[in-house]
Amino acid sequence: MSLKTIQRKDHHLDLCAREDVEARQPGALFDDVSLIHEALPDFSAADVSADCCFLGRRLRAPLMFTAITGGTERGGEFNRALARTAERHGLAIGLGSQRAMAEHPEAAASFSLRQDAPHAVIVGNIGLWQARTMGPDGVKRLMEAIGADALAIHLNVAQELIQPEGDRDFSGGLKVIEALVRALGEEKILVKETGCGISPATARRLASAGVRAIDISGTGGTSWVKVEGHRSEASGTKRMASLFGGWGIPTAPAAAALREALGSQMTLVASGGIRSGLDLAKAIALGADLGGTALPCLRAWESGGEEALESLTSSLLEGLRLAMLLTGCRNLSELRRAPLVEGEAFGRWKTALLKQAAG
Ligand SMILES: Cc1cc2nc3c(=O)[nH]c(=O)nc-3n(C[C@H](O)[C@H](O)[C@H](O)COP(=O)(O)O)c2cc1C
Repeated sequence: MSLKTIQRKDHHLDLCAREDVEARQPGALFDDVSLIHEALPDFSAADVSADCCFLGRRLRAPLMFTAITGGTERGGEFNRALARTAERHGLAIGLGSQRAMAEHPEAAASFSLRQDAPHAVIVGNIGLWQARTMGPDGVKRLMEAIGADALAIHLNVAQELIQPEGDRDFSGGLKVIEALVRALGEEKILVKETGCGISPATARRLASAGVRAIDISGTGGTSWVKVEGHRSEASGTKRMASLFGGWGIPTAPAAAALREALGSQMTLVASGGIRSGLDLAKAIALGADLGGTALPCLRAWESGGEEALESLTSSLLEGLRLAMLLTGCRNLSELRRAPLVEGEAFGRWKTALLKQAAG
């Protein structure tokens, strides 16, 4: 990895840890949905189970630390703390982009987490446009070199467009994904956005290429447009970053519309603005199989290391369990059937997304 890329990675971590990088308008819209209280749940708190299945493996709770980092010493330390925390709680962990490894194999150490997480589901990561250059064999080697269970292919058109040095040619993306699914196997590929969301219409195209798992990474959490706006000194970039800082599809209605449009054939991770166990519970009730979180993990790690990461994770899982008890749901299948009160903005987004998918 060139010195420039390393500096950019650590600069990204600094900016995300300290600056306002979240897309608050309209937000993820979890606040525009409510679960209905059950005053008489007929079971004990000890009976609540959040066990679930993800990519053919069992998790103790439906939570993934989504892709954040790797490639530097600081990234490696953070990844190992995430891995140990995922292992303790029986969760899944996603790595940041492994582009660094493709250029410099010695960077592999910061992505090699099997020793710290022998049982956790580990998902590697590469950008679609880098995968296009590397070809399926190169991408497969990246996944196998670190003993990952699957590989996430990330889509980040908005970020590339805001970066002056970013990619501008987005042709042939679906064909690249189709080739990767063929080379690695459909159970090994997760396609994810990076904060602008995936619509049901796009998900249908992904499904036609053989994709069976998606991380929505919708609007309402980390905005890479805002991050690039902070990073740049150029007034033109700052103007565009301010204009498009809230661009994308809010995570909550995207989760509901994706589940309705695609049925049970698609595994859905909902990341983008999940900030509490209640958000996580709502994501599951809306149709996601798992919730994902990135920025809160980075901020916890930066403020108090692994102990703070542990406390964040316990609080997310405790909030989920409380929400399950308070809605009278013993397990995640019951939570998925729990009725919801939908607000106006949520309803309008969901209707529009479904209409677009139908047309
Ligand atoms: C510091 C940081 C680095 C990230 N790096 C990557 C990456 O390398 N690859 C990727 O697919 N997503 C990356 N993401 C996006 C996250 O995986 C996630 O989808 C997104 O941030 C939304 O979740 P959040 O609102 O909880 O942050 C990154 C996010 C953060 C905060």
